[in-house]
Amino acid sequence: MNTNPLRLNHLLLSSNVLMAPLAGYTSWPFRMLCQELGAGLCFTEMVSANALKYKDKATEKLLYTTREERIRAVQLLGSDPAVMERAACSEALSGFDIIDINMGCPVPNIFKSGEGSALLADPRRAAAIIRGCKKSGKPVTVKTRVGIRQDELIAAEFTKMCEEAGADMVSIHGRSRSMMYDGTPYYDQIEQAKSAVSIPVIANGGIFSDSEAQHMLEATGADGVMIGRYALQDPYIFSRLTGRSVTEDKYSLLMGQLELTSRHYDETYTLTYMKKLASYCMKKRSGTKKYKQLLYHCGNVKEMKQILKAIFYEEEADRR
Ligand SMILES: Cc1cc2nc3c(=O)[nH]c(=O)nc-3n(C[C@H](O)[C@H](O)[C@H](O)COP(=O)(O)O)c2cc1C
Repeated sequence: MNTNPLRLNHLLLSSNVLMAPLAGYTSWPFRMLCQELGAGLCFTEMVSANALKYKDKATEKLLYTTREERIRAVQLLGSDPAVMERAACSEALSGFDIIDINMGCPVPNIFKSGEGSALLADPRRAAAIIRGCKKSGKPVTVKTRVGIRQDELIAAEFTKMCEEAGADMVSIHGRSRSMMYDGTPYYDQIEQAKSAVSIPVIANGGIFSDSEAQHMLEATGADGVMIGRYALQDPYIFSRLTGRSVTEDKYSLLMGQLELTSRHYDETYTLTYMKKLASYCMKKRSGTKKYKQLLYHCGNVKEMKQILKAIFYEEEADRR
């Protein structure tokens, strides 16, 4: 695929293949991995602007980053423009270069409280949130969907509103809220959004192979693509799409994640994350059922290393 660096306000992303924010996965270790493999930008998972003021341990973990992450993007979730502005300008986010705003989450309790995809139905509020976050002086990006319902798709007008309110980039999940995470994305909606604005538009949703990434780019004319779930199963999609040469096999890659996570996070967090990531990495492999049981009962990092070795040792031929 023809990938290229992407300008986002004053920042230059190394590639236009981005990693989507995924709650429970895109903490610092996974973002470092995606960066290494060629992703031009990764995002934290959504962080509640309301929760920021409590400075609790869980939020602290979500916000963990280091200078090794070249461009740091945090995703904020909220519906009150003043609270969002305060969060974007807060000391807690001082280590981040980009503020991304979640305007796409379909989860019922988030939707009901006017956050995430509910903002698609409240463009004035959405614009006020963008303007508020811009007061941080940082580039502000928006992640949204093509609409709430399939019979009312509004990607172009919503993206135009984002641009007029000051957004520097919009990533569009090509499905409506009602579709949740299934079904063919509306490529034409992303294409119309792209034609309506001059800021970069990123196309997301349903990319589960290299050729689907290529198709997404061609069908929408977007400035880049954003990969979600498939990157958990096959993170090498970044290196293949960007032409980066990588010698590490999946076993080494997971061991690297285990080392990195256990060095920077506690054991409970490390094990929870590694169990989920390893399960994704085992998808589409035969004979892994017995390992899944072992993995889920694993109680410490040492045991985790042994299990990963058992799962992947004989799969070293699976090099890319
Ligand atoms: C487990 C999971 C967690 C997600 N967490 C977030 C999130 O925190 N913020 C967000 O904007 N989108 C989130 N999403 C949506 C993804 O970023 C992405 O838009 C969606 O999965 C479609 O892309 P895909 O088909 O490539 O997976 C999440 C999706 C999944 C499956």
